[in-house]
Amino acid sequence: MSVELGAPFVLVTGGKGGVGKTTVAANLGVDLAREGRRVLLVDLDLGLANLDLTLGLRPAHRVEDALAGDVPLEECVITGPGGVHLLPAASGSEELSSLGSERRSRLIELLRGLAPRYDVVVGDSAAGVGADVLAFAALADRVVLVTTPDLAALTDAYGLIKALDQHGVRHGIDIPTPEVLVNHASGVEEGRAVARKLRSICERFLARSPRQAGWLPRSASVERSQSEGAPFVLRTRRALENVCMAQISGRLHGLAGVSGTPVTAGKNF
Ligand SMILES: Nc1ncnc2c1ncn2[C@@H]1O[C@H](COP(=O)(O)OP(=O)(O)OP(=O)(O)O)[C@@H](O)[C@H]1O
Ligand SMILES: [Mg+2]
Repeated sequence: MSVELGAPFVLVTGGKGGVGKTTVAANLGVDLAREGRRVLLVDLDLGLANLDLTLGLRPAHRVEDALAGDVPLEECVITGPGGVHLLPAASGSEELSSLGSERRSRLIELLRGLAPRYDVVVGDSAAGVGADVLAFAALADRVVLVTTPDLAALTDAYGLIKALDQHGVRHGIDIPTPEVLVNHASGVEEGRAVARKLRSICERFLARSPRQAGWLPRSASVERSQSEGAPFVLRTRRALENVCMAQISGRLHGLAGVSGTPVTAGKNF
């Protein structure tokens, strides 16, 4: 349970752009929601947000409207596939691409008013080691770090784990060691091998031992699901990517227990 948010909080992040963070966050959120959990997906890739498109939604209001004081935050929440709730953000906003500590605190304060109504909050973060990513990770109960087997992605994944480690030391906070999700893997073996490689580097240089959150195959169906705005977890359950996703979300069941009060989304759905 994130003390600052008042609900269990999972941040999906990754060092490199385009590794599948949004795909994972969206399908994880929908998978947990369709099992009966009350899930709030929050687009924390502020400035280049696209969770709404990934879920096939067209929100009337976005988080920046609430930050500007134009609408209450709950008015920005929209119901999506599987019953997941989404708090969308804007795309193409330079102003929001880096919040700065004042606006970040305001956003966290607003989220604190909303989060306790949910069993779990899942955040989709921007790539990189920017101040916003580090600050959101510092609030998280679990950090899921998405990488691909690609050397550049792995190097950036290590860079992010290192930056989180240093951020924690600098601010005297205990940031959870990220769990590694290997996307675009050719199979379970490659998933394990990539996670093992990253773990051994982290153990050697950071004295941290990141566990594996799971893996996802490279698949045309996963790619299509994003462009069509239809989460793949709502398709055939037997498809490999669905089995993989079920394993990934299964690891979060303990965190996202069912409790709390009923939730109503904003009017714009
Ligand atoms: N397992 C997969 N198989 C095939 N295509 C995939 C897979 N995972 C993601 N993709 C595709 O890769 C592209 C990037 O995915 P996504 O937007 O989820 O990445 P991201 O890490 O959120 O990117 P950004 O850093 O820009 O936010 C999308 O076109 C998506 O459909
Ligand atoms: Mg993304």
